[in-house]
Amino acid sequence: MNLNEYIELINKKLDEFMPENDFPQDIFKSMKYTVTLPGKRLRPIMCMESCRIFGGNIEDAIPTACAIEMLHAQTLIHDDLPCMDNDDFRRGKPTNHKVFGEANAVLAGDALISFAPQIILKHSKNLGTEKLVKIMEEYMQYAGAYGVIGGQVADIEAEKNWKNNIFGLQPEELLEFIHTHKTADLFRLPLRAGAIIAGASDKEIEKISELAQKLGVAFQISDDILDVISTFEEMGKTIGKDSNADKLTYVTLYGLDTSKCKLACLLDECCDIIKSFNIKSESLLEIISGIKKRVGINDSLTR
Ligand code: IPE
Ligand code: IPE
Ligand code: MG
Ligand code: MG
Ligand code: MG
Repeated sequence: MNLNEYIELINKKLDEFMPENDFPQDIFKSMKYTVTLPGKRLRPIMCMESCRIFGGNIEDAIPTACAIEMLHAQTLIHDDLPCMDNDDFRRGKPTNHKVFGEANAVLAGDALISFAPQIILKHSKNLGTEKLVKIMEEYMQYAGAYGVIGGQVADIEAEKNWKNNIFGLQPEELLEFIHTHKTADLFRLPLRAGAIIAGASDKEIEKISELAQKLGVAFQISDDILDVISTFEEMGKTIGKDSNADKLTYVTLYGLDTSKCKLACLLDECCDIIKSFNIKSESLLEIISGIKKRVGINDSLTR
C-alpha cells in the first residue's frame, strides 16, 4: 500500500470507529471533529507498516493504528488550549475549543484517552490476551505521565524559563527530554505496537524503538524548523508561535542551519535502519522524503 492508499483506509476506518450521534451528542461531535480533520496520519501508517515489516497482517493492526491516531488527536486538542499553546487553527480549521468551547475540548480530550483503548479491545479480540495486554501496557506508558504528558509538562514549564536549569537540566538535556516524550513517544507507541501485533521478537522490538526515537526527534526538529520557515497554507496552523512564546525548540537553541544539519543526519540514520529490515518499507521511506521535502533538505545536506 502506498501512503495515499493508507491514508484513505485510515480515514474510512476512523469515520466508522467514531460515533457522532451517541448521547450526549456534544462530546461525540467534538471528539470526532478533530480526529477526522485531515492529518498526515503518520502514526497509524507507522503502526501498520511496522506490523507488515515483521511479517504480520496489516488488517490486524487497523484498530490499534486508529486508536493511536485518536490519542494523537487528544494531544493536539489539549496542546491547542488557551492554557497550553493557545492556537486558533489546527489541520487548516478552527481548533476544537474554538468550535466547541473550552470545557468541551478538555472533556473531548479526556474522553479520547479512554475511548481509544476501548476501540482496540473491542475490535482486536483475535489478537489474544497476551498481545492485548502488551499493547495496553505500551499505551498506558506512552499516553501518560511517563510519556507524552511528561513531555508536554516539561515543554510548558520550559516556556520563557528554559535558561534557568529547570528540573536541574541544562537546556540541551531538557530539549532532549521534551522531544523524546512529547513527540518520539507517540512514534514509539505505533511502531512497537505494530511489531507486537506481528509477534516480533524482543530484539526486533528494540530495533524498531531505536527507529522511533530517531524519527520522532527528527520529526519534532522539522516541526520546530517549519514553525519558522513555513506558511499557514502549508501547515494548517499558525506559524511563528514558538519564538513569540519563547518556547525551547531546536531552532531556539541551535539556530536554523545546525537544526537542518542535525535533521538531515537523523533522517539518514532512519533510512539505514529501515533498509536493514528483511521486508522493506517504501512507505516509511516516503514519510522521510516528505519531511525532507517540506523542510527543503537537498542532497548537499545528506550523504
Ligand atoms: C503535530 O503532529 C504535533 C507534533 C508532534 C509536531 P503532526 O504534524 O503529525 O500532525 P497531523 O496529524 O498531521 O495534523
Ligand atoms: C506538540 O508539539 C506535541 C504534542 C501535541 C504532544 P507542538 O506544540 O510543537 O505541536 P504543534 O506545532 O502545535 O503542532
Ligand atoms: Mg506544544
Ligand atoms: Mg502546539
Ligand atoms: Mg510545533
